Amino acid sequence: MTRLAKGAHADVLVIGGGIIGLAVAWRAARRGLGNIVVIDPAHGGGAARVAAGMLAPVTELQYGEEPLLRLGMASNERYAAFAAELTEASGGQDTGYRQCGTVAVALDSDDRAELRELHAFHQRLGLDSHWLTGREARRLEPMLAPGVRGGLHVTDDHQVDGRRLVRALVLACERAGVLLHRAEATELLVENDRAVGARLDTLETVTADRIVLAAGPHSHRLPGLPEGVLPAIRPVKGQILRLRVPEPYRPFLSRNVRAVVRGRHLYLVPRENGELVIGATSEEQGYDTTVTAGGVYELLRDAHELVPGITELPLVETSAGLRPGSPDNAPLIGPTALPGLVAATGHYRNGVLLTPVTADLVAEYLTTGETPALAAPFTPTRFSPARSTTKAPA
Ligand code: GLY
Repeated sequence: MTRLAKGAHADVLVIGGGIIGLAVAWRAARRGLGNIVVIDPAHGGGAARVAAGMLAPVTELQYGEEPLLRLGMASNERYAAFAAELTEASGGQDTGYRQCGTVAVALDSDDRAELRELHAFHQRLGLDSHWLTGREARRLEPMLAPGVRGGLHVTDDHQVDGRRLVRALVLACERAGVLLHRAEATELLVENDRAVGARLDTLETVTADRIVLAAGPHSHRLPGLPEGVLPAIRPVKGQILRLRVPEPYRPFLSRNVRAVVRGRHLYLVPRENGELVIGATSEEQGYDTTVTAGGVYELLRDAHELVPGITELPLVETSAGLRPGSPDNAPLIGPTALPGLVAATGHYRNGVLLTPVTADLVAEYLTTGETPALAAPFTPTRFSPARSTTKAPA
C-alpha cells in the first residue's frame, strides 16, 4: 500500500474499493489510463466478500426488469474472458468462475405456479430456460427432497467466488500501478460546480480530473455531494451461511440451486472446493450487519426442507452484507449531473454479476468521454430530471 504524495493529484480518483471500484480502476488502467487512485479503508471489503457469487441474470429476473436483464446477460457473456484475463493479470489468482448452470425448483403447488409464471416470462423473452418435472429435477440434483414439485433448468446461469475475485482485483490493480490508498473519503470537494477531489480522514486531500463514486450503499452519504446528484441508495441486508461439504460427500450439489420454498426465496451455491453457500435474507433496516438467530434459522429451515442432507454438513461461517439498492433497483453507471463525477453504484442484488460490464462501461466513458449505448438506461441523471443530460462534460 503506497502512501499518497503531499498535494496529490489523480487523473482518476475512485472512491470505494469494493468489487466495483476495484474493477473500474483495473479496467481503466487496462485501457491505458494512468495515475489512478482508489480510496478505501479496507480494499476488497464490502458486499462481494459476503455474496454467494451467483451469476444468474435469467433465474433472478423480475417482471419489468428487461433492461437490467440485457445488462446482466451482457455481463454474464463477458465473465469467462474477464475471469481469465484477471487470473493472468493478478499473477495466477483463481476467481472460482465456474460454468455450472442453475436449477430453480418449487416445493409446493403454489411455488410451482410461481415458477411456471417465470418460465412463461422466460419463453416470451426467448430465453434458454427448460421446464423440469420434479423427477427430472431430482435426476439432475439427487440431494433434492422427494417433495420437489418441478422446476427450471437454465444452463447459462453460473457462479464465481466473490472473495477470490476481489483478491484477484486487488493484485491486478497493484500490478497495473493503481494506487490503493487506505483511507476514508470524508468530503467531496466541489469548485465552480465541478467535482475536483476529496478530503480524507487522514487529513490529506487528493485533487482529481475525474472522480468515480463507487461506495455502494454509502455513495449518496458522502459529505459535500450536492443535493439531487445521486438518489438515496438504500442498504438491503442479506444474511448468508457457509457450509463445508467433506470430500466423501462431493459433489453434494453439481449446480446452483434456487428455490421457492412456500413462497420464500432461497439459493444454494456449491463451489468446487467444497464450500456450500446458502442465502439470503432480504431486510431493509438501515446499516446494520448483525447476524441474527432468526435469519440463520430461516435459512437453515428452508434449506433443510429443500435439501434434507444439509444438516450433516459443518456450518463454518455466518455473515451479513448490505446490497446497495437504488430507487428503481437498477444500477447507476456513468456521468452524473455534476461535471467531473461519475457513478458506479446501486447494483442491489447484482453487484458481482454486473462487475465486468460496469467496469468496461465506466472505463470506456473515462477514455472516450462518450456514454456507451448499453449504459444509457442506467444513467445516474434519470433521478435528477432538472439536471438531466446524457453527455455530461468529462
Ligand atoms: N443476488 C443474490 C442476492 O442478492 O441475494
